[in-house]
Amino acid sequence: MNTFTYSYPVKVYFGEKAAENNLRAELAKVGDSVMLAYGGGSIKKNGVYDELMGILKAAGKTVTEFTGIMSNPTYEKVQEGAKLAKDNSIDFILAVGGGSVIDCCKVVSAQAKLDKDIWDYEYVEHGSPADFIPMGAVVTAFGTGAEMNNGAVITNEEKKSKSPLWGAFYDFAILDPVYTMTMPMKQVISGAFDSLSHSMETYMGSPRAKAVSFGGEVSLSDEINEATQRNIIRNIRATIMNPEDVGARSELIWAAAMAENGMLKIGKVTDFQCHMLEHQLGAYTDCNHGQGLAVLHPVLYRHMLPEAAPQFARMAVEVWGIDSAGKSEEELANAFIDALASFIKEIGLPTTFTEMNISEDTDFKAIADSTILTGGCAKKFDREELLEILLECR
Ligand code: NZQ
Ligand code: ZN
Repeated sequence: MNTFTYSYPVKVYFGEKAAENNLRAELAKVGDSVMLAYGGGSIKKNGVYDELMGILKAAGKTVTEFTGIMSNPTYEKVQEGAKLAKDNSIDFILAVGGGSVIDCCKVVSAQAKLDKDIWDYEYVEHGSPADFIPMGAVVTAFGTGAEMNNGAVITNEEKKSKSPLWGAFYDFAILDPVYTMTMPMKQVISGAFDSLSHSMETYMGSPRAKAVSFGGEVSLSDEINEATQRNIIRNIRATIMNPEDVGARSELIWAAAMAENGMLKIGKVTDFQCHMLEHQLGAYTDCNHGQGLAVLHPVLYRHMLPEAAPQFARMAVEVWGIDSAGKSEEELANAFIDALASFIKEIGLPTTFTEMNISEDTDFKAIADSTILTGGCAKKFDREELLEILLECR
């Protein structure tokens, strides 16, 4: 196991009525000028806006609204939010939504306190912002686990880059499964698949877990990870069977948080090559994140054989329940990818870019050429092979 230090800054309030029971006490700790940030308006339709606004008003806050945060938030939107925060001397940001709103506000909170352009500061000067407007997150769409980390994925349209920017950790996150009941089922599935992807990408990082049946060792982080993956798979199926099942959704929300709260990453270097490729696909096509991952994962994993066979073989057995009797490591590894691919089909996620309406004319070479190559991937990809993967996904 690698050496590590563990501590976690995000306080989680989980469960029904989590906002009603805890938000007021949190608001008492912050100044009076609050920015309420949200997306395209789903919170106005499902009552979450009215409830939170009621709590903010009862706490005596002056509320500035930052609205219209789009899926795959843009750098321009970040700048709009930062200006609004500065102009209104915002003391605290309450971000209400899914990964897009939650990510956008992480960078708003840093940019509002920084006198230079944060993209250049992080990517050219290699600086790390240290001064932030404090923030709280109310999760209305689960999957990314964005509420649990300080990385934000921002689309810089001018630079044709969808890339991580480092911002603030949320001081607290409110995870009420009832708030997610109005999520469109497509978003439920793509979000939950994103959580599964985070778990797999973490699992696949070094040090390599060897299939127990092949005499290898496995870490506690990886065993918790296997349980997280099994839980996500089971509860995606349960939610599709019964969209009103609050219990299954509760599991998915917490699994999404678990996949990104650092627990599964302890003692490991992570992979995330599939994510880096999907992010650049998003920069060029503005596609749905979880759907992009669903198309890419099986194709990319077939390219990772045989380098990643030990981890794949172990996931076949421990996550997908495949009987190892009489099978070689390579056969098990292939069985894992087959199981993943058929699950993606079963739950109605796309399996090709065409199904996602991604045009044949997309500049796939530019996507491959601008993708970050990660150090933790079991296989060191070059750009030619990433392009092959993209072309196979069409
Ligand atoms: O904008 P509104 O009207 O609120 O509608 C949203 C949006 O259209 C809707 N929605 C959210 N809660 C709802 C609801 N509709 C009805 N009822 C509710 N309760 O859902 C749609 C999608 O929301 P979005 O936030 O875009 O989705 P998601 O949570 O999947 O976030 C995607 C973004 O997060 C990034 C992705 O790249 C993408 O930009 N990621 C962030 C990560 C992180 N910071 O850790 C990790 C991930 O790997 C990912 O890259
Ligand atoms: Zn993701």
